Amino acid sequence: MGAIMDNILARRSIRHYVDNKPVEREKVELLLQAAMAAPSACNLQPWEFVVVDNPAELEEMKVFVRGGQFNAPMAMVVCARTEYVPWEGNGWQIDCAAAIENMMLAAVEMGLGSLWIGDFDREKVREYLCVPQGVDLVNIVYFGYPAETKRPVTRYKEEAVYWGKYDPNRPHAERTVPQMIQESINDS
Ligand SMILES: Cc1cc2nc3c(=O)[nH]c(=O)nc-3n(C[C@H](O)[C@H](O)[C@H](O)COP(=O)(O)O)c2cc1C
Repeated sequence: MGAIMDNILARRSIRHYVDNKPVEREKVELLLQAAMAAPSACNLQPWEFVVVDNPAELEEMKVFVRGGQFNAPMAMVVCARTEYVPWEGNGWQIDCAAAIENMMLAAVEMGLGSLWIGDFDREKVREYLCVPQGVDLVNIVYFGYPAETKRPVTRYKEEAVYWGKYDPNRPHAERTVPQMIQESINDS
């Protein structure tokens, strides 16, 4: 397999980072290059990025993150300007997700770990970072040098694939949040 597939499988959520080891400016810029190279609907590129790497500010922002307290030296707050999106719905979140995944895969290549955070108090972070109304806070992504290792996983499941037509009668395993989180922990 090529390098991209290797990076896809190697990317894992990193929740422990090397202390006092910042992400170099040129690496941050490469991450941003990767993000903005993502595809977006009608090429509207709705994304914007707030790079937070001041340790005191990261510490202050931590309390707004319900999805866990982590010691990453850099947070990328991914925002979206939705004012130019002429259609209904939240499709712009998909564009931002593509940008996020691009960054996380590029991070693997640079020896960085990353963590995608969906669960945070958006209004508190908005206020803290001076993000105006009309700009949406999509997700936070943490980056830093990993202080834990996790093995690559594929998660390939035959039952998720239909060739040709969907089979509504195919049995599928039940899923709960605790069970799926446990599965990801077991993959460590
Ligand atoms: C949209 C989204 C939101 C997430 N939010 C959180 C979060 O708030 N806190 C957290 O610790 N992990 C979060 N994660 C990471 C997932 O738990 C993780 O990707 C999943 O368990 C699979 O493990 P892996 O990333 O190591 O492959 C999020 C992932 C995604 C895609």
